[in-house]
Amino acid sequence: MKNFTYYQPTRIVFGAGESEKIGTYLSSISRRVLLVYGEGSVIRSGLLERVKNSLDKEGVEYVEMGGVKPNPRLSLVEKGIALVRQHGLDAVLAVGGGSVIDTAKSIGIGVKYEGDVWDFYSKGLVPQETIPVAVVLTIAAAGSECSNSNVITNDYLHLPEKRGINYDVTRPVLAVMDPTLTYTLPAYQTAAGGYDIMAHVMERYFTREEGVDFTDRMCEATLKTVIRALPIALSTPDDYDSRSQLMWASTIAHNDLLSTGRVGDWASHRMAHQPSALYDLTHGAALSIIFPAWMRYVYKSDVKRFAQFAVRVWDVEPDFGDMEKTALKGIERMEDFIRKIGLPLTFTDAGIPYSRFEEMALRATGGDSFKLGAFYPLTSRDILDIYHSVI
Ligand code: NZQ
Ligand code: ZN
Repeated sequence: MKNFTYYQPTRIVFGAGESEKIGTYLSSISRRVLLVYGEGSVIRSGLLERVKNSLDKEGVEYVEMGGVKPNPRLSLVEKGIALVRQHGLDAVLAVGGGSVIDTAKSIGIGVKYEGDVWDFYSKGLVPQETIPVAVVLTIAAAGSECSNSNVITNDYLHLPEKRGINYDVTRPVLAVMDPTLTYTLPAYQTAAGGYDIMAHVMERYFTREEGVDFTDRMCEATLKTVIRALPIALSTPDDYDSRSQLMWASTIAHNDLLSTGRVGDWASHRMAHQPSALYDLTHGAALSIIFPAWMRYVYKSDVKRFAQFAVRVWDVEPDFGDMEKTALKGIERMEDFIRKIGLPLTFTDAGIPYSRFEEMALRATGGDSFKLGAFYPLTSRDILDIYHSVI
């Protein structure tokens, strides 16, 4: 196990009805916030109205900015930065999922920086400060409510580019997580969110680090929980038990607890960001195409770990005479699961053309200036092969 520092500053308030008290929780952090949300689900569900009532009750003033799209855009981040400055606000409240939260995080660091906020994503500039970001979470998926990551798409470029950064300064100060808010999710978003949770665990699970049994077991428990809860949430959207398991799993999968003492891979995420940027493909759906393809490409480099994944996560009967067969069976079971929850396994399933694969592979490796992933470093040629394996 490697030495590590684990930093988790987010105050988490979890449970049915807690979102109604956001004003109380927020009032000790700020009294003038930018209230950020997406394209309308919070209006249709009545959540936005309830949040505003709670803020009014506690005397928290707000300026609204809706319209965040999935694969959130840089142009709206800039609008948010301008609104914060214009109205003298001192915090951002995100009411939504990963896209809304990432927009809020990017506004948070952008407000404290005189230059172009895209510099953080394109030039390796390290953000030193942020205004506080608080969250009311509406989907179990990205884990942004406690993560140190945020991912923004630059929509000013001729070919839009999606880039992520990872800095502890961006972790939210407050996350209110009310599983009942996820009852209104369309099945496709529930499934895509569920698979993203699994992907966050698997990016960490596939490591070369030895002596990580404790975090292996936590990863396996998280994956098994999602595998059990997700089909129930899909068939019974208002099942509190499965919705609450998924919501808590989404946070644990990506708040870095499962990374302690080990180095994750993360190539699948970066490969998945390319079609999401160009074709606005849902993040979890991009991962359901890429992750199994990556597994098939790399499993031979560590058959033992992939066999462990098959046996402990997918209940595959171990074949001690043929561990490769055991490993492959695990990947097959995961593909069956993806089919069952209604996500794509190929670019064709997702309606994505394959005319830009070379550009996508080059972008994922910074024009071949680095290899992608820690478990199995990939060149742009490898990435091209992986993309081509799932047309
Ligand atoms: O925009 P509205 O109308 O609100 O609808 C949203 C959106 O269409 C809808 N939705 C959310 N909650 C709902 C709901 N619809 C009905 N009822 C509800 N309760 O769901 C759609 C997707 O929302 P989005 O915020 O995009 O979902 P998610 O949480 O999956 O976030 C995906 C984004 O996060 C990034 C992804 O790349 C993607 O851009 N990620 C962020 C990470 C991070 N910051 O740590 C890590 C992840 O790996 C990921 O990259
Ligand atoms: Zn993800």
